[in-house]
Amino acid sequence: MNKKNIILILCLVCGMAVATTVSAQGKLVLREDNIEELLSAMTIEEKVSLLVGGPGKLVPGAAGYTCEIERLGIPMTVLADGPAGLRIQPKREGTDETFYCTGFPTSTLLASSWDPELVETVTTAMGNEVLEYGVDVLLAPGMNLHRNPLCGRNFEYYSEDPLLSGKMAAAYVRGIQKNGVGTSIKHFTANNQEINRLENDARVSNRALRELYLKNFEIAVKEGKPWTVMSSYNKLNGEYTQQKHGLLTTVLRDEWGFDGIVMTDWGCKENTVKSVKAGNDLMEWGNQVEIDRILAAVNSGEISQEELDRNVRNMLKYIVKTPHFRHYNFSNNPDLKAHAEVARKAAEESIILLKNEGGTLPLNGNEKVALYGISSIDFVGIGTGSGEVNTTHITNMQEAMQEPSFSFIGAFTLDENLAEFYRQYVAYQQSLEKMEKTNRWKNRNIREEVPISAKAIRLQAFDNDVAVVVIGRNAGEGTDRTLKDDFELSATERELLQNVSTEFHARGKCVIVVLNIGGVIETASWKHLADAILLPWSPGQEGAHAIVDILTGKVNPSGKLPMTFPMNYMDIPSSWNFPYYWDMTKGRKGERENVDYTKYDEDIFVGYRYFQTDNRKVSYPFGYGLSYTAFSYTKPTVKADKDGFTATITIKNTGKVAGREVVELYVSAPSGGLEKPARELKAFTKTKLLAPGESETLTMKVSAYEMASFNEATSSWETADGTYEVLFGASVEDIRATASFRFGKAQAWPVQDVLGVPGE
Ligand code: BGC
Repeated sequence: MNKKNIILILCLVCGMAVATTVSAQGKLVLREDNIEELLSAMTIEEKVSLLVGGPGKLVPGAAGYTCEIERLGIPMTVLADGPAGLRIQPKREGTDETFYCTGFPTSTLLASSWDPELVETVTTAMGNEVLEYGVDVLLAPGMNLHRNPLCGRNFEYYSEDPLLSGKMAAAYVRGIQKNGVGTSIKHFTANNQEINRLENDARVSNRALRELYLKNFEIAVKEGKPWTVMSSYNKLNGEYTQQKHGLLTTVLRDEWGFDGIVMTDWGCKENTVKSVKAGNDLMEWGNQVEIDRILAAVNSGEISQEELDRNVRNMLKYIVKTPHFRHYNFSNNPDLKAHAEVARKAAEESIILLKNEGGTLPLNGNEKVALYGISSIDFVGIGTGSGEVNTTHITNMQEAMQEPSFSFIGAFTLDENLAEFYRQYVAYQQSLEKMEKTNRWKNRNIREEVPISAKAIRLQAFDNDVAVVVIGRNAGEGTDRTLKDDFELSATERELLQNVSTEFHARGKCVIVVLNIGGVIETASWKHLADAILLPWSPGQEGAHAIVDILTGKVNPSGKLPMTFPMNYMDIPSSWNFPYYWDMTKGRKGERENVDYTKYDEDIFVGYRYFQTDNRKVSYPFGYGLSYTAFSYTKPTVKADKDGFTATITIKNTGKVAGREVVELYVSAPSGGLEKPARELKAFTKTKLLAPGESETLTMKVSAYEMASFNEATSSWETADGTYEVLFGASVEDIRATASFRFGKAQAWPVQDVLGVPGE
């Protein structure tokens, strides 16, 4: 019996419809140009199997798979996590080969570069690892807004501002997808807290959704064209985002033109049928109960043939783009050395200098350094949860500081007793953790600093030229951060900083603080204790080298804050509606505010939109960051036309060393009509590396649509006529030049009112 006949008989036995499975050329298999033909040849069971993920073994450590249908030449495809690099298992049974990936800087640090081109370079390298390790889609970038600093996953996200977040995500997607592999922008949307993330109902006005929590996704979809979107776990205005037709079909596809697949975040919710109908093409990680539910609904007619085919068609269009479909012969051997260089360079271009009193930095690079803080060894390269990457190494500050920075200068000398003390302490802590059998979900945010006596610090101040204090914070999926000992410094950290400051300053020596943190912390109460503060966030496996390059002046810092550092936590409006105080062990009594539901009462006044409008003092404003040089801004020109405006400004390096400047363009809308934030970021750009005395003329374009605010009463985007102020800033507070223009004719873009209203 030949092969064709065997298939035929097998199919008959299985009760499958086989009439069209065999084409004139032989076996009917999926091709790029026969999707419709293939669709009509698929059985209901096959169609349904494509809509639900399943188990797989192709790439150990991958997060999920789509199902194979061998009969039709439909391969299994592989989905694995990001965003700071590819997350797969580094070792496999039965082989000595290793499968390590590069730990690139976290998203918050990448956003601090304000440089989409840099992000695209990083993800071009990252995407090569995705391809070469046999993965089809990287489940990244994470791009929820930084609504509140305590969200445990903020390090995986970019910014409090939707424009910066959207531009970074679009660049990220372009870089990865250049490699012929896909991305999944996540988590769509309003997934802004980890506590009760699977069930929390985010109650958000349509205006805040449109202008903030959807805007960044809109930019990423239109400018990045991701293959896939991941719908979040949470509810939005009473419905799971995964089941919200208005969100997944009306807005995402009909309005924005998204033509890829939507997959659920990794769970199995009730009402799979509603998810399918809403436009969720793929249930991940996939469960038999979901297959059963979909099958039953198709058979009963609850899911129509058109709805089923629509989703299956999306899946087939996705599959024909994948490396597995192309039979790509992956090497399992990407160039990790070259990618480590990319990671280091990216960190160098993104780290933020928050304070530099009297030119404390750069150092000479040959000082004797007292290096404090457990995080100088237990350095936080990335974070925990699904965003963690299995890297060959994460260089820590102790190691990096001992490597020669400039060959003619030599290296820093570390206070060896102090260094050894920290090594011993961290080794002890790590062995305790192992004994406690911690897993990847354990909240390791709180890293107890070890006390050092004032007497010892006095001796160290005699003995060393400078003090560097590393303050570390870890964070990750599944938990939010706490106010005490996390957002705020712990008592031991405060005492350490105080004593180091007193003793070193008494001897005319400087104190430098390095913030190795995943999210914003309180700085206002202690920043006077430091002469210089560097903010590298969680900078990836090579980040410690980049820190040293900045400490020594080999690199001039050019990063700027992608969010605000407030004076204190309760200054942030969303803090009144964030579960920072909630103890999850308490019994359930009715609906728990901020746990079962969260009211986004601050509405559009998130981050600087609030602080600027309310004229409230902050510790460090949005967009802020220092350089070792200075820049002048010339008088700008702004030309308006019916489609928006074009702004031009020249930036000159007026200092003594080469450097790059981020230029931020804010717009203040005319008063009257809708209430507006005092100013909103509408464009930004970064100069090339300018030599001392060198200038560059920069041009930024903003369309009339990009200037619009959302009017809930009319369900439309509206750009009012009138006089607009254009502000060119080195931060949202530090406006260096202004111009204005008249926008002659109001414009409106109506959209459908489909996002629901926030419940009480
Ligand atoms: C996370 C996603 C991740 C997925 C797969 C989920 O719990 O929220 O970000 O992509 O797991 O690991």
